[in-house]
Amino acid sequence: MLRILIVNGPNLNLLGRRETGVYGSKTLEQIEAGLMQLADEIGIETVFYQSNHEGAIIDRLHQALDDVDGVVINPGALTHYSYALRDAISAVAMPVVEVHMSNVHGRESFRRESVTAAVCVGQITGFGEMSYALGLRAVVDAIRAGADAR
Ligand code: DQA
Repeated sequence: MLRILIVNGPNLNLLGRRETGVYGSKTLEQIEAGLMQLADEIGIETVFYQSNHEGAIIDRLHQALDDVDGVVINPGALTHYSYALRDAISAVAMPVVEVHMSNVHGRESFRRESVTAAVCVGQITGFGEMSYALGLRAVVDAIRAGADAR
């Protein structure tokens, strides 16, 4: 069974309490529960990780080499400046999909740049909680397409 790691970066532990007009009222735990249900429906396994620390997220991605088949990541603000995270995504050499709840292209100009998206399979942005569900479906599809191509 495919195992997908879902990573959330800085400040996403505060979902449900943080800027609810932008990010909605659901907590991260509630979003993760919805993803577990979707995972059951599509016959895959999910593993969740959240950290406010860049290095810890990078360590978890390194571990991904040994324990998962693909990654969905909302890097939070690290998206916009972390070359170290970008290098870690490149290093794991497995499908990674970047997701954002808000539409980063319609907000402050610094959010329009993602230094990580170019090394991901793609970026999904602006669909709230559904961004994660779309990301999960997209990464599974990318893994299966890769397996077919081999
Ligand atoms: C975010 C967008 C980022 O710009 C921001 O720093 C976040 C959340 C999103 O999900 O919309 O923390 O990644």
